[in-house]
Amino acid sequence: MKEQGEETISNRSANRPFESILEASVTRRRILQGGIGLAATAFLGAPLAREAGIDLAGVAQAVGPGFAAITPSYDDTVRVPSGYTATPFYFWGDPVSDGPAWKPDASNTAFDQSQQAGMHADGMTYFPLDGSDWGLLVMNHEYTDDGILHPDGTEPWTADKVQKSQNAHGVSVIEVKKVAGAWTIVRPSSFARRVTANSPIRVAGPAAGSNLLKTAADPTGTTVLGTANNCANGYTPWSTYLACEENFNGYFSHDGDISDFEDRYGLAPGGFGYRWHEFDERWSVADHPNEANRFGWVVEVDPLNPFSMPVKRTALGRFKHEGATVTIADNGKVVVYSGDDERFEYIYKFVSSGTYNPGDRVGNRNLLDSGTLYAARFNADGSGSWLPLVYGRNGLDAGNGFASQAAVLTYARAAADVVGATPMDRPEWITVHPVTQEAYCALTNNTRRTEDDVDAANPRPDNSLGHIVRWREAGGDSSATSFDWDVFVLAGDPALGDPDKAGNINGSLFGSPDGLWFDHNGLLWIQTDISSTSVGEGDYVNLGNNQMLAADTETGEVRRFLTGPVGCEVTGVTTTPDGTTMWVNIQHPGEGPENLDPENPLEFSSWPDGPTGGRPRSGTVLITNNDGGVIGT
Ligand code: FEO
Ligand code: CA
Ligand code: CA
Ligand code: CA
Repeated sequence: MKEQGEETISNRSANRPFESILEASVTRRRILQGGIGLAATAFLGAPLAREAGIDLAGVAQAVGPGFAAITPSYDDTVRVPSGYTATPFYFWGDPVSDGPAWKPDASNTAFDQSQQAGMHADGMTYFPLDGSDWGLLVMNHEYTDDGILHPDGTEPWTADKVQKSQNAHGVSVIEVKKVAGAWTIVRPSSFARRVTANSPIRVAGPAAGSNLLKTAADPTGTTVLGTANNCANGYTPWSTYLACEENFNGYFSHDGDISDFEDRYGLAPGGFGYRWHEFDERWSVADHPNEANRFGWVVEVDPLNPFSMPVKRTALGRFKHEGATVTIADNGKVVVYSGDDERFEYIYKFVSSGTYNPGDRVGNRNLLDSGTLYAARFNADGSGSWLPLVYGRNGLDAGNGFASQAAVLTYARAAADVVGATPMDRPEWITVHPVTQEAYCALTNNTRRTEDDVDAANPRPDNSLGHIVRWREAGGDSSATSFDWDVFVLAGDPALGDPDKAGNINGSLFGSPDGLWFDHNGLLWIQTDISSTSVGEGDYVNLGNNQMLAADTETGEVRRFLTGPVGCEVTGVTTTPDGTTMWVNIQHPGEGPENLDPENPLEFSSWPDGPTGGRPRSGTVLITNNDGGVIGT
């Protein structure tokens, strides 16, 4: 299957904030010339936390990496620094509980697949059942590769193959426990389950029940079958998991006339080639015009209750959600940041109407159903504002084609166009510092940005290697409507000889940041997703296979911590609360030109099972510090 974000083609917005045009060239020069260390020190510091009313006694604001950086790797294996161990843990096809075992020839049935790990693991969170020794590991399965999923690839194409592909999507919940010092998957487990592209999911929030979400099979517009293309994730302080629907358009075939609003989501004949619509007409827009409106949302899953129905939270808007990062503002409002991962798309923020009550899990359950969704505007002077996407305000009315708040949320991209949000270089993960509340966003790349449309926040043309921006909300209040921002780092390699590709990394080189996560100690983890076709060409030889690095946000220093196998991306990271156990996902090992050939899926990588083990499998590695200490510091 195609590399998802890369291959998505939608009708992009024409937005370009006026200030950005005026000052883009000046700011661009400043950013390209300046080191990140100075900017970082000026941007982050104790006054911010004091302003926010945080007692810093005993809490570090910025933690530095405490391991020796490893070198780039080109090998078909996972490497970590000396003193650490990476152990294979949970892979596509492994049973979630005591169900059917993995078969190396991929002859497991569609039904088997519904009880096994899905394909292409991505975002992931550990939820404690008993602190750092026993918990639930919840993860997304983003998409499928039919050349690997089925023993005989795509020919002939059958209803069973569609079913198996659908069952390889969604979410896994597995129970994990430390037994005699070693982590194991508990089997059988009363918590373990799979959510797939066919699981019933309730729809909640302002768009639930609207005409835009009603279908022949669901005339009330309140229950959808399934979730798909769950990319990055989020988690709430009331211990629920957020699975985000990213390139949902790829599953639908849209052959007929397309409205301007639909066109903003890239619906097209044949989609990305998943071919579900050939045997399941729900995925044909001509037959079921509103079904595609029921995807592109954030899905809340309660892992602690295995019988709970997941919920699509429409108040968070419909777009290609990379992730959904939750923080609680000082006033108790729940704030959710989300990137829309496509070239020239936007960064969004939701602020709840209600407030979080730490002692009231039931009361917190529907906090994500009412509030205000905003889109971000980055001004060239380093200021920014959150533009509300509210029906009846700022042109979001019938004059621009919006009939209701349900329409504004369902067509959030079009709404953000109207209010003048800033088109970004593919916003991927967003993470919030646990003490300072500063937010960091990975902008993975955008090779279609030209000299004519660079701006201060997206300062490089042909941005093939990406950058990370960060912002501090006004007054340290995460629910504020304005912020200050700067560029944390431009990825790149000075040896490439092109000033626009040099970047300004202080430490280990990397490109195309995607996963971004502050651990509980404030160490920033960066995971990369350079397209495997780029790596194969050798242009980025100093960067090696995709990798994970740790950054000190005060000094800007970056150290390479993990390198993945050939053709993978590294995505998904979580630790136990004490920080001594980490899980990391390795997605699509072996992706590349060879892998796209269903006749020859094993050519490029045989990780993790090795040349005799079968086909490459996405999945999870467990990382421990050999001395039992905290990972990374
Ligand atoms: Fe699924 Fe934007 O990565
Ligand atoms: Ca991916
Ligand atoms: Ca991603
Ligand atoms: Ca990516």
